[in-house]
Amino acid sequence: MSVEHGKHHDQHFYDTFLLVIGILAAMAISVYWIATAIADADPGAYNRGGAVQEKLIDQRLAPVGDVQIAGQAETQMASTPPKAAAGGAVQSGKQIWEGTCSACHASGVLGAPRIGDKAAWAPRIAKGLKVLEDHALHGFKQMPAHGGNAALSDAEVIKALEYMVGQSK
Ligand code: HEC
Repeated sequence: MSVEHGKHHDQHFYDTFLLVIGILAAMAISVYWIATAIADADPGAYNRGGAVQEKLIDQRLAPVGDVQIAGQAETQMASTPPKAAAGGAVQSGKQIWEGTCSACHASGVLGAPRIGDKAAWAPRIAKGLKVLEDHALHGFKQMPAHGGNAALSDAEVIKALEYMVGQSK
């Protein structure tokens, strides 16, 4: 192999190498460009931390149900808990029970004592209402605090509890 030949070989390798690098760089840039274009087209779905994304997360984390006052546009996201504030309808124990507690206490999910099941409730009622209140407010085994609905005030949880116990003895 002559020296000339070797030089040509190197030159050829060098050219090809540059070409490959160039193509890879161009691909990297176009991938970035395409990704940006997609993210811009639908900011809610891809821009984490963006205002739209945060709103969507708020919506998903919001408690079920919201206080709607006639003639007043909804200005806040549902994250304001329905605390029966100014003008809001005060919920009865039955309504609160239906809205939150029924998820488990209607059918007995996770072994929850079913409403109206006197045999299941008798030994619990025997512990005293204060104990049951404490367990409803702070949780007990598989029973989540506030029935898992942080939007409920203590008074609302107790109202629902009183309704459930009233129906079960
Ligand atoms: C996610 C399911 C779930 C929801 C929702 C739920 N509970 Fe329960 N609850 C349970 C389970 C499970 C138990 C049984 C716990 C045990 O004794 O192992 C229980 C037990 C109880 C008890 C008896 C505690 C004791 O000391 O024996 C009370 C009182 C109670 N729940 C009240 C409520 C009230 C009031 C609500 C609604 C605000 C509610 N629960 C919502 C699952 C739930």
